[in-house]
Amino acid sequence: MYKELIDAALEARENAYVPYSGFKVGSAVLMEDDTIFNGCNIENASYGATNCAERTAIFNAVSHGHTKIKALAVVGDIHNFTYPCGICRQVMVEFAENREIPIIIIKNKDEYLVKTMEDILPGAFTKIDLDAEKEVKYV
Ligand code: THU
Repeated sequence: MYKELIDAALEARENAYVPYSGFKVGSAVLMEDDTIFNGCNIENASYGATNCAERTAIFNAVSHGHTKIKALAVVGDIHNFTYPCGICRQVMVEFAENREIPIIIIKNKDEYLVKTMEDILPGAFTKIDLDAEKEVKYV
């Protein structure tokens, strides 16, 4: 079902620029109009300037005018399941169409887990929290 997205993430992983960690990551995002954008991790000699694969993919989509994510796939270690880092989860939720969108955690083309945005970042801080007129909810 997610074959195209998974293939795009695996393909992007090949371009990972990882001279420091050697840890390749690839990601792909499916946007509202079914367009797919991908990205890899891009490291830097100033380590903190490194950009994760998920953010590269999302920034690639947004740079092309696409701001609503329908699904996101990520692949890191091909012998294990690599989950998105905390910063990437926060960037994802900014552009997630809703909290139920699938987040596909890939080990290889045949083995992957499907989580939701809400699973991996419950109770996220989003633009709604910045709205002074919002209804106050106690949950
Ligand atoms: N990395 C990602 O690309 N995505 C994640 O969600 C986790 C970490 C990258 C950053 C760095 O290039 C390497 O993995 C090791 O941390």
